[in-house]
Amino acid sequence: MQITFETKPYASLETDALVTPVFEGDDALQGRVAELDQFTGGLLKKLATSGELTGKSLEFTLLHAPAGLKAARLLLVGAGKRDQFNVATLRKVAGAALRALKAKSVKNFAFLAGGALPGEEGAQAIVEGLLTADFETDKYKTDKKDKKIESVSLAGFPEAESASIQKAMARGRIIAESQNFTRDLVNEPSNKLTPRILAEKAEAMAKEAGLAIEIFDEKKIADLKMGALLSVAQGSAEPPRFIVVTYTPASVKPGAPVIGLVGKAVTFDTGGVSIKPADGMEKMKYDMAGGATMLGVMRALAALKPNVKVIGVVPATENMVGGKAQKPGDIQTAMSGKTIEVLNTDAEGRLILADAVHYAKQLGVTHIVDAATLTGAIVVALANVNVGVFGSDQAWTDKLLASAKATGEKMWQLPMDDEYREFIKGSFADIQNIGSGKGGGSITGAWFIREFAGDTPWIHLDIAGTAWNDDAKPWLAKGPTGVALRTLVHLVSTF
Ligand code: BES
Ligand code: ZN
Ligand code: ZN
Repeated sequence: MQITFETKPYASLETDALVTPVFEGDDALQGRVAELDQFTGGLLKKLATSGELTGKSLEFTLLHAPAGLKAARLLLVGAGKRDQFNVATLRKVAGAALRALKAKSVKNFAFLAGGALPGEEGAQAIVEGLLTADFETDKYKTDKKDKKIESVSLAGFPEAESASIQKAMARGRIIAESQNFTRDLVNEPSNKLTPRILAEKAEAMAKEAGLAIEIFDEKKIADLKMGALLSVAQGSAEPPRFIVVTYTPASVKPGAPVIGLVGKAVTFDTGGVSIKPADGMEKMKYDMAGGATMLGVMRALAALKPNVKVIGVVPATENMVGGKAQKPGDIQTAMSGKTIEVLNTDAEGRLILADAVHYAKQLGVTHIVDAATLTGAIVVALANVNVGVFGSDQAWTDKLLASAKATGEKMWQLPMDDEYREFIKGSFADIQNIGSGKGGGSITGAWFIREFAGDTPWIHLDIAGTAWNDDAKPWLAKGPTGVALRTLVHLVSTF
């Protein structure tokens, strides 16, 4: 899909549709909308008076053949209250407009920015909203509808800002396409995305993006004594892979931070011998979303070229039942030397992250963020609305939370008091992989990983509730969301 910067007056644009946000309440008929009303012979005013056009969030008003415009249609999309308008809303408005028009077989449209946000931020958000909305999860459908938006133009921005806005648009494209790269991986079923295939796809991405990549096979993983990762992988006929992707900036200041991005990639989680119920198990193909997110972030960084070194570390395995699978009560030795009592084989994410976090530290990372679909408990706590955030260093955590806010991704920090650490003290080994029945499941999961991060500032993102949309949203297809990618790209770009 082409996205261009348009400088012609919007009334003269020959397009399938002219789209603009409209604000709620008194604002509904002000500014741009009042201007547009003239082109519709007062129709917008009538609609507003009759209560049909209110500007409420994502309300759609579609007019055909507006008299004074060259556009074939005029689409007003409700944007809610003007004082609450932000990049997240603008992204959704642009995305929802695209999906609504695509459903009507429209081929191109012009998006007239409301001017309520600074140009660069707004333009980036619009491009992100359009491209993520355009992503479909129909890859394996043979009767794909031939509905495609070919081009969108961004109109109404000051011509004087053309250069900076087009730069912001390019940035938006890189981020959105990387998010879609992540979503495409997450959407793959486990028979089409084994750990080996994930590693191949990571390698192809790294080659194309110009990133250094190393992939460890099962032998190398064993040589490195990654006992926790191997314990999860041993039940599967598919061998594990350990993916390390590195972005090195052109010049690094001595003593500069090195960021480690560690992502859980369980390409299918049956639960192992502590097997999951059949109902809904098919969703466990998205248990590699954390790893896919980190690969997407690395892809974006290669193009955006921030000033900091970043290493993506992705342990990939299946978690299967089988004659060789580990069993509850088994004791494993992690790469760090810590012994782990595996009380529940379904708490496998923390096992593979234990070795991945330890390995990242050995590579010299100074700050860590891990992302994982780690616990069902986070869905109980925060539903599908907020990402659960856990941190060992408040300054580092605050930095991430600020990036989440800036990019409009909802994240919520949970406590990490020392009392919770007691929950995973082992009876027969150093630690156990589940808490001893006292609740706080997401926090004990986080504490388990933290044991391996040690003194290195570390953040854990539990994306089990947010990486997958059970229902389509007006601005996003059903399925993988690519959550946390925007926040992480922003975080790295602040150095
Ligand atoms: N992959 C699951 C977590 C999950 C649950 C992700 C629901 C997405 C949706 C994880 O490996 C798991 O099974 N966790 C267990 C931990 C428990 C055994 C302590 C869980 O949450 O039930
Ligand atoms: Zn599990
Ligand atoms: Zn899992």
